Amino acid sequence: MNILVLGSGGREHTFAYKLAQSTNCSQLYVAPGNAGTSQIATNLNVNPKDFQEVKTCVLEKDIQMVIVGPEDPLVDGIYDFFKEDEALENVMLIGPSKRGALLEGSKERAKEFMAMYDIPTAAYESFKAESIEAGKTFLESLKPPYVLKADGLAAGKGVLILNDLAEAKQELENMLTNKKFGEASETVVIEEFLDGIELSVFVLTDGKNYLTLPTAKDYKRIGEGDTGLNTGGMGAISPVPFADEAFMVKIENRIIKPTVNGLAKEEIDYKGFIFIGLIKVNDNPYVIEYNVRMGDPETEVVLPRVKNDLVEVFEKLSNGQLNEISLELDQRSAATVMAVSGGYPEAYEKGKEISGYNTIKDSIVFHAGTKEDNGKVVTSGGRVIAITSFGNDFNEALKKSYQNIEKLHFDKMYYRKDLGKDLN
Ligand code: AMP
Ligand code: GLY
Repeated sequence: MNILVLGSGGREHTFAYKLAQSTNCSQLYVAPGNAGTSQIATNLNVNPKDFQEVKTCVLEKDIQMVIVGPEDPLVDGIYDFFKEDEALENVMLIGPSKRGALLEGSKERAKEFMAMYDIPTAAYESFKAESIEAGKTFLESLKPPYVLKADGLAAGKGVLILNDLAEAKQELENMLTNKKFGEASETVVIEEFLDGIELSVFVLTDGKNYLTLPTAKDYKRIGEGDTGLNTGGMGAISPVPFADEAFMVKIENRIIKPTVNGLAKEEIDYKGFIFIGLIKVNDNPYVIEYNVRMGDPETEVVLPRVKNDLVEVFEKLSNGQLNEISLELDQRSAATVMAVSGGYPEAYEKGKEISGYNTIKDSIVFHAGTKEDNGKVVTSGGRVIAITSFGNDFNEALKKSYQNIEKLHFDKMYYRKDLGKDLN
């Protein structure tokens, strides 16, 4: 069948890489894609947020399956757009409906959902401009640090963690009254700070059956020793060494099952990924957030470990028959290290020529912010290339990625050299 992947990052290159391996995949398209996806698929100049444009391209290219990489089209209702259109209703769209996507699109909704189904998470209250004084009083009742979250999507920047009460009150005002994150901060969730170590689990569900994919841990901060600004992710490993079997059983019983059962109970159309951000506190898992898509760069370590034919998995998912799939996993560890543009996540330059990536043989090179320009491959984003490797443990996998990233060059390239050190 003909397949379209929407998005342009390392996550989408990884999807394309796995889908291209399937004998069930005829023509593979990525929109808009990057310089890596163009080597294994056809890039299309289509904006994933413009549903009419997507529709035209799906009909023109006779596409039978669409995989949605990023959250925005899902939160904006691309699934519903397809199902409500006679010409598109039979196309398999991998991703939740708009109601399902609210688990990521609204932090308040996610917290209410967790409260409803007794899913462990930090205590919270939510506030609007009218209730700002109550919000300040609530902050006074908490111990620092204070966690403030814009309710809506804010390009990964909507969470503030502050040590000082006066500063927390000021930021609450900035978000609610001064619309720091626009509409996204018209409601603010204030929650209890949880002190622990983070990990993520990925679940694929058809709304009633589910498969638990490998765990991963990403490295969010730009600086070594987890310092500096938050990024989209500077690297990741899978599996997470501290998520042993007993801990996974707790995650499954306390979090995954009630989440899928909650979706089913509310009759929410959900045929896609649930990415559950967790924190381990005293050996117990708590949900930090839900995302309704795969993570980036987590995908770059999770999917290469899945041996199944991904097209077959998605077909079963779409037909509500995920119970017929048993996952086959590569038991080795995978690690990815992200090479980024100097200055990222703040201002950085683009258009730098990239060399050396085609000399890397025993790791997988996933492109993120790259594009072709007059026969050259140049940088076009903050996160540029992820180097994924396998090993008997995460240290071995990381070592190989670090050896190979040395072969990659572009002006002002930066990467973190300390990944995994926190786990040894
Ligand atoms: P989120 O966008 O909800 O993933 O939040 C971004 C980051 O803020 C998370 O990855 C955590 O590192 C941190 N964070 C969010 N909520 C809490 C919390 N209640 N306690 C401690 N850290 C948190
Ligand atoms: N790496 C975190 C995310 O994809 O949201």
